[in-house]
Amino acid sequence: MQDDVGTGGHVPVMLERVLELLGPALSGPSPVVVDANLGLGGHSEALLAAHPGLHLIGIDRDPFAIDFSTRRLRPYAGRTTLVHASSADLDDVLARAGRGPIDGALFDLGVSSPQLDEAERGFAYSYDAPLDMRMDTSQELTAELVVNTYGAAELARILREYGEERFAQRVAGLIIRERAKEAITSTKRLADIVRDAIPAATRRTGGNPAKRTFQALRIEVNAELSALEVALPAALDALALGGRVVVLSYHSLEDRLTKQALTARTRDTSPPGLPVPLPAHQPRFRLLTRGAELPSDEELARNPRAASARLRAAERIRVDD
Ligand SMILES: C[S@@+](CC[C@H](N)C(=O)[O-])C[C@H]1O[C@@H](n2cnc3c(N)ncnc32)[C@H](O)[C@@H]1O
Repeated sequence: MQDDVGTGGHVPVMLERVLELLGPALSGPSPVVVDANLGLGGHSEALLAAHPGLHLIGIDRDPFAIDFSTRRLRPYAGRTTLVHASSADLDDVLARAGRGPIDGALFDLGVSSPQLDEAERGFAYSYDAPLDMRMDTSQELTAELVVNTYGAAELARILREYGEERFAQRVAGLIIRERAKEAITSTKRLADIVRDAIPAATRRTGGNPAKRTFQALRIEVNAELSALEVALPAALDALALGGRVVVLSYHSLEDRLTKQALTARTRDTSPPGLPVPLPAHQPRFRLLTRGAELPSDEELARNPRAASARLRAAERIRVDD
């Protein structure tokens, strides 16, 4: 009997559009798709249901996500390979799966609803919990380690670059002073420190000031941007002719990296003035989206967590000989 594991409360973002964009690449007799951010398997389940011959390789660095999706996708067990790994190891995962070039790749970046909602995982400033924030609970680096051991300059850089925090230096400075009194070990104490570091006039606008610091620490703890920098090119290189990639990002840094990786491959790099275009300089991909697409108002009304989503997609139109 099939056990009903539900959806874990996570609503797959821009699901219809993801299916529509990947669909044409998955219409062959035995296509292969990689879901590089399996999460609770929402997008994966819909892809498997829509394409009866599809084999899905699902990757997540969170062991709880792999556990949950393994149960959720049990009806498709013969057509799935689910791997606990970082998408930074995508090349290795594909080599071990031994399925050759892939037809589709999906990146649904960021955190899942349970990661945010389970207080003890320490991602949320709205609950008091140990400062953890690891997606992969087997890794050593935690937010507590970052906050209590990094130097002031490094902390300020992380807050500025990953959190776009205007008051990065003030927040880093107060963290250093406070941790000298006693180690900072809880989300609540950190949120209080951030609030105290931000000038009162600014505090009255722009939501909870801890939001930017928590985002920055999460990105640092999970090396989110460096994983994307490796994983997206690896997926693009693994795509067969006609293969498609869809990326959903949730903040400007992810979206910028995605845009750069896609535009680099959709550009004609021929030197100006050549009489005949050289194949080596022709673009390998074409964009399927103009700029970044946003969720509809109707989706936002149903799922406010989709608010920051930006979708970009591309198709492989040339392979190297
Ligand atoms: C937004 S959720 C994906 C939700 C999923 N599409 C669904 O419909 O249920 C993002 C997931 O990506 C995972 N993740 C984030 N960075 C990762 C990385 N570098 N490698 C593998 N998984 C990662 C997180 O653990 C999380 O489970």
